[in-house]
Amino acid sequence: MGDIIVIEDLVKMFDGKTAVDHLDLRIREGELFGFLGPNGAGKTTTVRCVATLTNFDSGTITVDGYNLRRNPVEAKSRMGVIQQQVSLDKDLTIRENMISHAMYHMMGKAERDARIRELSDLFGLEEYLDKPVDSLSGGWKKRAAIVCAMLHSPRVLFLDEPTSGLDINARRLLWDVVRKLHADGTTIVLTTHYIEEAEALCDRVGIIDHGRIIALDTPQRLCEGVGSVAVEYLEGGKTQYRYFGTREDANAFASTIDTGVDVTIRKTNLEDVFVELTGKSVGGGK
Ligand SMILES: Nc1ncnc2c1ncn2[C@@H]1O[C@H](COP(=O)(O)OP(=O)(O)OP(=O)(O)O)[C@@H](O)[C@H]1O
Ligand SMILES: [Mg+2]
Repeated sequence: MGDIIVIEDLVKMFDGKTAVDHLDLRIREGELFGFLGPNGAGKTTTVRCVATLTNFDSGTITVDGYNLRRNPVEAKSRMGVIQQQVSLDKDLTIRENMISHAMYHMMGKAERDARIRELSDLFGLEEYLDKPVDSLSGGWKKRAAIVCAMLHSPRVLFLDEPTSGLDINARRLLWDVVRKLHADGTTIVLTTHYIEEAEALCDRVGIIDHGRIIALDTPQRLCEGVGSVAVEYLEGGKTQYRYFGTREDANAFASTIDTGVDVTIRKTNLEDVFVELTGKSVGGGK
């Protein structure tokens, strides 16, 4: 299949500071693509540029063949976005937000009401539909924002940290919905700090740091790039990590570590890749 999103040489500045730095990225139609990166790396800014929520300084973005500068309306109609900061209209009820979203996407009333019913039922939102946005807790607002973004059945769905702030039930529900949308052919771009989420769901993962893509591949190949077998041990009160291509090499190295030191030999995971490439722990800091 072809590339549904093509980003070429994208630059976005804020007050003279570069947030997205000549970024190139192609996302395939039907792909479930994961965006990982440290805080401030430029994930949200990239997503906001593609989703036409903010302008960019230079570069080219096309969505489903539509150039964002020349055909923003056509491009926008193909996308749905769940923003990191929930962006519902606080003065309206949840249902009114959904209706206004449906109007924006020119949905017919019958289709709109059926989708509101179907998705609200799925996310357990029925009893909140006629309540003002502000009376809901953060997690319930997020569920409502998720339903809004999906209402018009977009070809491309951006989820910027969709599960942060969600309880475990809602999180599992969202994973199932994402898997179903993916199976039905929707292209999904998922930003997350939950590495296991990226590992469990994504076909390919792009790691972004300082506004640039520094690695891009399937989770498995990213792990192989670092070394598929990890050796973890304590030295000087600090956990050390070493990576090897084979278990034999890992075992050979482990046998050189002082006896009495706890050594773990395990499969390398995406968190290891992240830390190796960005030099930061997932929670931030060095
Ligand atoms: N509206 C804004 N005004 C000024 N600077 C901004 C604005 N939005 C983002 N930035 C800056 O752009 C850079 C990238 O931020 P962005 O929000 O894209 O990062 P992120 O990768 O999504 O991080 P996080 O994991 O914390 O969500 C940061 O240096 C941030 O401070
Ligand atoms: Mg962000």
